Amino acid sequence: MKPAAGKPGFLSNVLVRLLLFGVLIVILRFSYVVTLAGESCALGGFCFFSPSLNLAIAGTRSGSLNARSAVTESERYASKDWISGVQFYSSVFQNLIAGGFLSPASMSLCVETSTGRDVLALREVGITNAVGISKKASPPLVKYGEARRIPFANGTFDFVFVGEGALERSPRAAVFAAEVARTLKLKGFAAFHVKANDTYSFNSFVDLFSFCCNVVKINNVLGFDSSMPHIKELIVKKERHEIGSDSYSSSKGKCSAPDYKKQLVRNAEALIEEEPLKPWIILKRNVKNIRYLSSMVDISFKGRYVYVDVGARSYGSSIGSWFRKQYPKQNKTFHVYAIEADKAFHQEYGSKKGVTLLPYAAWVRNESLVFEINRGPGENVQGKGRGMGRIQPLQSSGVFDGGDVEKIPGFDFADWLKNTVSKNDFVVMKMDVEGTEFDLIPRLFETGAICLVDEIFLECHYNRWQRCCPGQRSPKYDKTYDQCLQLFTSLRQSGVLVHQWF
Ligand SMILES: *[C@@H]1O[C@H](CO)[C@@H](O)[C@H](O)[C@H]1NC(C)=O
Ligand SMILES: *[C@@H]1O[C@H](CO)[C@@H](O)[C@H](O)[C@H]1NC(C)=O
Ligand SMILES: *[C@@H]1O[C@H](CO)[C@@H](O)[C@H](O)[C@H]1NC(C)=O
Ligand SMILES: *[C@@H]1O[C@H](CO)[C@@H](O)[C@H](O)[C@H]1NC(C)=O
Repeated sequence: MKPAAGKPGFLSNVLVRLLLFGVLIVILRFSYVVTLAGESCALGGFCFFSPSLNLAIAGTRSGSLNARSAVTESERYASKDWISGVQFYSSVFQNLIAGGFLSPASMSLCVETSTGRDVLALREVGITNAVGISKKASPPLVKYGEARRIPFANGTFDFVFVGEGALERSPRAAVFAAEVARTLKLKGFAAFHVKANDTYSFNSFVDLFSFCCNVVKINNVLGFDSSMPHIKELIVKKERHEIGSDSYSSSKGKCSAPDYKKQLVRNAEALIEEEPLKPWIILKRNVKNIRYLSSMVDISFKGRYVYVDVGARSYGSSIGSWFRKQYPKQNKTFHVYAIEADKAFHQEYGSKKGVTLLPYAAWVRNESLVFEINRGPGENVQGKGRGMGRIQPLQSSGVFDGGDVEKIPGFDFADWLKNTVSKNDFVVMKMDVEGTEFDLIPRLFETGAICLVDEIFLECHYNRWQRCCPGQRSPKYDKTYDQCLQLFTSLRQSGVLVHQWF
């Protein structure tokens, strides 16, 4: 039997040669694509082949600099990452050609491409008019440009590609989407690679593009690296020009939650069915069980991110201590609206960034109200010296027992909400309004404003057992625990994700 000692040496020799050959092919292929196929200046305002590269070849001073960077460039183009990326995108685009979404004549743009591998792949599969934009230009494939201001004229492209989850990473997905739509020709296609794969995010995506485009195809694609192992490929077609026609404001009155939202409600934590004997402990503890919407679904494809705190009291009481610290925000920046009628809390809001204070009481119409400052006798709330404010319309004043009253402006909260947020925004609301929830929530349903809210944290006020005085119910509220439970149940049955707040 002949010893096989020479074999591994021979094998690795062959492998090295093969590898070198592969690298050579890639470099040749790249220089072919860049130099011969690349001399297209057909794209408005942009020549794929930049003049400085011509100079480099002519051997001027700046040329020798460019030549050196060209060496490191070609090393990059030979790296494993680069090659597998180009191969991956080539197969993606070949499939899109086969599907009729892309053709060799398509003017094509890759938005926020980190490396330009997708641009090169486009050119390799025969689409000569392809260019990329990124915050970090890497000529000749990628020009400087940001998604929120794509540096091309309206209707320039037949095809726009957004890979690497760039749309969902964007802090302003709605602006990004509008820019893609703007630069797309009518009947043009845009393809997006996203990680998100739940029905909530899919519906948000559809809503984000509904002003211009229809989703025409969804593919599941196996990714080529660990950053996106499973890719959802969403293809939209531009059908309309109009921007900003908000279909929501035209639909007055009632609205109903779609099935995918009802499904989310079924996945939420259970409601506490039985009246707690120690509500001050049980309800507080329940916060740990809360299944936040943003821990169940991807909230990337939204316009603005908004938190409305109705009955905000001091900044630290829930905005600072809970929302800013604990609510899972998926890295999004939320704008906060603090609604608080009590003057004592107003001053500190002046210095808070990203917070708008509405120094009025949320109510069912615009009118003056009386506002109770001191807590009623026997109420033993955390002794901060400032009671919770109950409100009443002026006509029925005199209802309050003891305590000072103050006249304050109330406003139509449902109307305000409809004028402030849109269907595409992500809206979280906390409501702690001392019993006024039994007026505000029905009004939100009546006006359809309820459908603008994604998630509600609601404190329901009832004649609860008191910590101070065993066996005694709070005299401050006349609603019962059952009535509160009914309010929560009816919200959930309508597809509103509501949590019991304390
Ligand atoms: C380009 O499109 C945007 C949005 O569709 C529009 O507001 C703008 O007026 C258009 N610009 C030109 C020059 O047509
Ligand atoms: C997410 O994607 C995987 C594979 O692509 C699929 O099997 C799964 O059903 C998807 N989940 C949802 C909620 O769509
Ligand atoms: C959140 O955003 C920051 C800044 O844009 C980024 O550095 C970080 O990686 C992001 N984190 C996640 C989890 O997306
Ligand atoms: C209530 O007042 C606000 C602010 O003055 C106004 O914008 C809004 O239209 C009013 N709403 C109704 C229903 O009158």
